[in-house]
Amino acid sequence: MSTLQEEISRRRTFAIISHPDAGKTTLTEKFLLYGGAIAQAGEVKGKRAKAATSDWMEIEKQRGISVTSSVMQFQHGGFCINILDTPGHQDFSEDTYRTLMAADSAVMVIDGAKGVEPQTRKLFKVCALRHIPIFTFINKMDRETRDPLELCEEVERELGIDTYAVNWPIGCGKEFQGVYDREKGRILFFEAEGRGRKASVTEVALEDPALEELIGASKAAALREEVELLGAGREFDLEAVRSGTLSPVFFGSALTNFGVEPFLEEFLRMTTAPLPRISDQGEVDVFSPDFSAFVFKIQANMNKAHRDRLAFMRICSGKFQRETEYFHVQSGKKLRLSQPQQMMAAEREIVEEAYAGDIIGVFDPGLFAIGDTITVPGKKFRYSGIPTFEPEHFMRVAPKDTMKRKQFIKGTEQIAQEGAIQIFKVPGAGLEEVIVGVVGTLQFDVFEYRMKNEYGVDLYMTGLPYDHLRLITACPCKPEDLVLCTGSAILEDFRSRLLVAFGGEWSVGFLTKHNPGLELADSLSV
Ligand code: G4P
Repeated sequence: MSTLQEEISRRRTFAIISHPDAGKTTLTEKFLLYGGAIAQAGEVKGKRAKAATSDWMEIEKQRGISVTSSVMQFQHGGFCINILDTPGHQDFSEDTYRTLMAADSAVMVIDGAKGVEPQTRKLFKVCALRHIPIFTFINKMDRETRDPLELCEEVERELGIDTYAVNWPIGCGKEFQGVYDREKGRILFFEAEGRGRKASVTEVALEDPALEELIGASKAAALREEVELLGAGREFDLEAVRSGTLSPVFFGSALTNFGVEPFLEEFLRMTTAPLPRISDQGEVDVFSPDFSAFVFKIQANMNKAHRDRLAFMRICSGKFQRETEYFHVQSGKKLRLSQPQQMMAAEREIVEEAYAGDIIGVFDPGLFAIGDTITVPGKKFRYSGIPTFEPEHFMRVAPKDTMKRKQFIKGTEQIAQEGAIQIFKVPGAGLEEVIVGVVGTLQFDVFEYRMKNEYGVDLYMTGLPYDHLRLITACPCKPEDLVLCTGSAILEDFRSRLLVAFGGEWSVGFLTKHNPGLELADSLSV
């Protein structure tokens, strides 16, 4: 195997998804500890606070949350692992969704007491669209949790994915004794005292009478019964895992470091190395020596003094080398990617080389847009676009000072180009005011803050009652003659496409009934 093949084959690039507070940060931290990327727990959060020194991060600092997603790389057991972190607040953004486009698999952290929560559901949907493998870590078993069978059933029912429990918990909360590893036929004992130490392991078959002595008669009976029930369910099927239809489930406790290492190991074994991605010229071979990547995130003004923008790209084939000439397909320009950076835990480092599967952040002179493809000179294919996600919240926005019209337009356009917000106009109207649509309402605050601090524009912002947006693909009459229900409106995007904004899914029925010939697309990405 060549070095190129070897390097790419050992890459594992995944996103961690969860509802806030389920334990995503804690689990990430434990992963990084295994990889030696950080020296002690608490560093991820600690560094996050430290990174909040730039003005742009001020809003994160004020709210104590992470608005932006970040990428971390570490090594473990011969693998080179890239973790894509997603913001942990309810008010997440389209950016979170897009980050998932760069991952090859996802780890879903679920709080054992709470089960499937709204944000998990939303993020899961995006992963499911791409059919990437999804692994479930049911966390906080050291606390009182819900019935494990019920939790698995909920994942299946709510998310529409089959599950296979790789291990099974023995009790929970004060009664938590550990987990039974079904494949290896052994118990991993939980020691509440032993935070961070390796759990002790005892090989024991389920039918072995020694099981009673180890965990007590009632627990042994319950374990046998439950595992038998599971056994009667379905077989483990690695192909189904890899095609995203079967989620392996692991129980553990990230905080006490219980079950984390076995989970990481099994996950690395089961998940895939980078897979080929589709371009407009067909599948691109991951192992081709030619570098190619696509931009999935643009982060602006990490340092206000320099007005810098970083474009994050996912490498899809070959090897990246610093000081090499590459080709930006969308602009047709040759370029050298300057200051290529990678995140090591929360620190940035200049990279000399990187491989398919890796994520690099490069300085963006205002050239890149989300979804752009970078290749080697002579190759002109484009990776399939990143979907545009439907905004769920809308506001009418205008500058308080009409003299600031120019800055207003520049600011809204630039911020929209980064993909944090989507902007629309009322058809026929000028740009004195625009309609801003976002996936999470926090983006309104970020937008307002940035318009004031970076463009010097104070805004009037008025909430609008819409929560859905559909693209009009066929309009039977002039848009102004369409019959609309209350609380809906026709908007135009900056590609001059017409859309209808409305409140409540039921309005689609009203619109199509009262406007024969009107056709609406299911997605904004056509
Ligand atoms: P998030 O990134 O998904 O939002 O969750 P995070 O890891 O920050 O964890 C949320 C809270 O849950 C934290 O407590 C954390 O310590 C706790 N936690 C995580 N894993 C476990 C677990 O396995 N068992 C128990 N009992 N608790 C767990 P906090 O008090 O909100 O924050 P902190 O002060 O401990 O940082």
